[in-house]
Amino acid sequence: MYHRAIRFCVLVCLLGSVHAGIGVAHAASHAETHGTEGMVAARSRLAALAGAQILQQGGNAVDAAVATGFALAVTYPSAGNLAGGGFMVIRLVDGTVVTNDHRERAPAGAERDMFQNEAGDVVPGLSTASHLAAGVPGTVDGLLDVLERYGTRSVEQVIASALDYAERGFVLDYDLANDIERALPELRKHPSSIAVFTKKDGTAYREGEVFRQPDLAKTLQRIAELGRKGFYAGKTAELIEAEMRRGGGLISAADLADYDSVWREPIRGTYRGYDVFSMPPPSSGGVLLVQMLNMLEPFDVGGMGWGSAETVHLMVEAERRAYADRAEFLGDPDFVDVPVSRLTDKTYARRRFADFDPARAIRSADVDAGQWPEESPETTHVSVMDAAGNAVAYTTTLNLSFGSKIVVEGTGMLLNNEMDDFSSKENTPNAYGLIGRDANAIAPGKRMLSSMAPTIVVKDKAPLLVTGSPGGSTIITTVLQVVVNTLDHGMSLSDAVGLPRFHHQWLPDRVIFEPYGLSPDTRRLLEAKGHTLVPLPEGRGIGDANSVKREGSELLGMSDPRNDGSAVGF
Ligand code: DON
Repeated sequence: MYHRAIRFCVLVCLLGSVHAGIGVAHAASHAETHGTEGMVAARSRLAALAGAQILQQGGNAVDAAVATGFALAVTYPSAGNLAGGGFMVIRLVDGTVVTNDHRERAPAGAERDMFQNEAGDVVPGLSTASHLAAGVPGTVDGLLDVLERYGTRSVEQVIASALDYAERGFVLDYDLANDIERALPELRKHPSSIAVFTKKDGTAYREGEVFRQPDLAKTLQRIAELGRKGFYAGKTAELIEAEMRRGGGLISAADLADYDSVWREPIRGTYRGYDVFSMPPPSSGGVLLVQMLNMLEPFDVGGMGWGSAETVHLMVEAERRAYADRAEFLGDPDFVDVPVSRLTDKTYARRRFADFDPARAIRSADVDAGQWPEESPETTHVSVMDAAGNAVAYTTTLNLSFGSKIVVEGTGMLLNNEMDDFSSKENTPNAYGLIGRDANAIAPGKRMLSSMAPTIVVKDKAPLLVTGSPGGSTIITTVLQVVVNTLDHGMSLSDAVGLPRFHHQWLPDRVIFEPYGLSPDTRRLLEAKGHTLVPLPEGRGIGDANSVKREGSELLGMSDPRNDGSAVGF
């Protein structure tokens, strides 16, 4: 009865609060949302509303991030998840900064060469589209952990909106209907998936139709009632195990029972007097972001100007070197020694960048390039600030869009395909064209290396900017550009997030850029320095950096105009 009352209230209050002045900036407007009391920016409008609603009821930024996280599992199923993983950076008003790592882990039965055939070749699709692709999910443990430690609301309260969206359903917008339709050929390979993502007669849902997920609602209900045990034990765990048996996967009841999210010290950097906090390994996000900022710091990036050949060249050269280090040194710190303090040291950056030549591009070693992903990738980022001054940056994912495309029968939830983020074989590119070596080899219980970079920038002891992005390997360069646009070029949040982006990752040795991102004369200048430039097709963007910024007493929210998210504030 209690849940029903809360759910009813959520629906009524939600509608009520829209009228009572929750500001919604729809992405299409490309405008910032303004508020003073709280702000949530996310890829799904309903999920951002779930978070803002919690803030309006007196919850803090952590409560809001958790509520948004659970809601994304329902309203943005291509990346939001229960059976995936994520990273959260939290800065409390007293200046404490903590990070929660709820990255998936390799099951105990995993083996270093499990994605190779007898000839030692990587078997295409095994690490992305099979039951073996799934790591042991971390999201539920992580969200419950952060709620318990830093939240103020009950599990039932932060799950209420998600439960309501799953149980009563919600009206599909063009964006999500289209997202599902694109994934249908893959989802159709699994009866459990097609049962969730098509109508009873097997046809595709259309924009404007109501999308209900009753099995997912039951899974959420078990979590609301039993907490961690509602997912990692009992019925949900049994259903995951049964799915693994059916599909030849590895995740066992013991893997689920053993899963634990980890509190880790944030990566700390400084850039022109600002403090930068981001995610440590097993994500490479924070290390690379700080490393690249350190390389840029001696240069007058603002004076060189946004989009100039000089600036793009400088940033690309920093990216090339940082990503080369990623392949060699980064992995799960519980398994390998990651030289974090060296990599994020300013002296190391100066030395590493000493061979930078403003006139010409250095060639990346080993140009046996990987491919850019054909498949549309999905991860999603949420930024939150509250009136008290707490800030949360949260990135979560199933890895590729809709993960492995496999719904765990009876649970309504998709399995991640995060195992592909390991290095299946030395120097062999994964779905993002990233290569890795020993540090990121598969081992039982190990966490696969990530690029997720939930980030908080602090000025004079107050949070200035909360940002982060999906985009696989392009996550870190997306965050770098939002930070540089804000701090070096003094841009408004809307420009810092909205303007076109470029990306280089050492291998393959080329710069990709968004349409209109580099003018013809800038391209000529960059090519003359030796860069290979690859324009992305019209409509194909880099990143989705839903961000929140504080300006005086105002909170500005901006969902990335590349996609259909929302910033909701009041
Ligand atoms: O952790 C990582 O780096 C990847 N699994 C993230 C995937 C991703 O960003 C896909 N999104 N667009």
